[in-house]
Amino acid sequence: MKFVKLSQTNDAMPTLGLGTWQAEPSVVKSTVYAALELGYRHIDTAFNYNNEEAIGSAITKWIDDGRGTRSELFITTKLPHIANRASDVEKFLNLQLKRLQMTYVDLYLIHVPFGFHCDPETLTPKVNEEGNYELDMDTDHVATWKKLEECQKSGLIRNIGLSNFNEEQIEKIVKHATFKPQVLQVELHAYFQQIELRKFCEKHNIILTAYAPLGSPGAKNHFVTKYKYSPSTFPDLLSLPDVTTLAKKYGKTPAQILLHFLVRQNIVVIPKSTNLERLKENMDFYDFELTTDEMDTLIRLDKGENGRIFNFLFWKGVEFHPEYPFESVK
Ligand code: A2P
Repeated sequence: MKFVKLSQTNDAMPTLGLGTWQAEPSVVKSTVYAALELGYRHIDTAFNYNNEEAIGSAITKWIDDGRGTRSELFITTKLPHIANRASDVEKFLNLQLKRLQMTYVDLYLIHVPFGFHCDPETLTPKVNEEGNYELDMDTDHVATWKKLEECQKSGLIRNIGLSNFNEEQIEKIVKHATFKPQVLQVELHAYFQQIELRKFCEKHNIILTAYAPLGSPGAKNHFVTKYKYSPSTFPDLLSLPDVTTLAKKYGKTPAQILLHFLVRQNIVVIPKSTNLERLKENMDFYDFELTTDEMDTLIRLDKGENGRIFNFLFWKGVEFHPEYPFESVK
């Protein structure tokens, strides 16, 4: 396993984590336990994934079974869109810690830069007459960040960061922060390499975590059926000839090539899998080295903004929020 250092705490963050978006609560408990047994030490979840409780019970069982300790683990979770305001940070963080059965998380991210009004009964977004989520137009990133800093100071969180924010939004937080953002989690894969954002993060000592590092093949059916996405939005990165040729050469799988490619550039990857064989496969990409020319071949796959899969437009009307982060659909 390779680690990256977080700039303000010197904490070591494993470059491989287990992604758990779309990992059903009924299966994720055994997945997380199995992943810990295999040697995963970094788990990524979120309030919105509805699986913090199952993940918490897997980790607690693993520790109670004497298989390892909490301090060996790096656990990330995220402040949801329904709580994207200073006055909700502590309430949600405490609820999430309770669900996770932990006294602290290693990393807490603001999940998205925009916010929705919250239905306090169901802890889901309020919906208006047209069926759209109700936008909270008062989102104030700096005020929310200050609350995260307080929680970091009091020990409930070791590191704080952002997810799905754009450069301008991050810059504003950096300017006002005492404790700077340590990590930015964004969509990042061979077709969408976030070249500009990566330069920006390097300048600010922010570590990047790539979600959908394999191009999220499993989300395709769900998004095409439920949200009417075009199937072509989802690239088949695992079948690209440039990727399969390298896989053959090194005796690796396409997934291992794609993960290796990102980690070689100091990017943290969080591939999701609930399948034991693929969990094993997704750990085993550290024992070979692509040449500079081969890395360049993969760098050339980048499609820039055209490679983006996720833009959150499935939350109808979200692009009208003042903090909607992506310019291309404005
Ligand atoms: P599964 O959970 O059945 O393994 P991403 O992390 O880019 O969003 O991709 C996650 C999706 O890719 C999931 O649907 C997962 O399915 C699938 N997946 C994970 N690892 C691999 C792999 N090594 N090869 C092929 N598909 C994979």
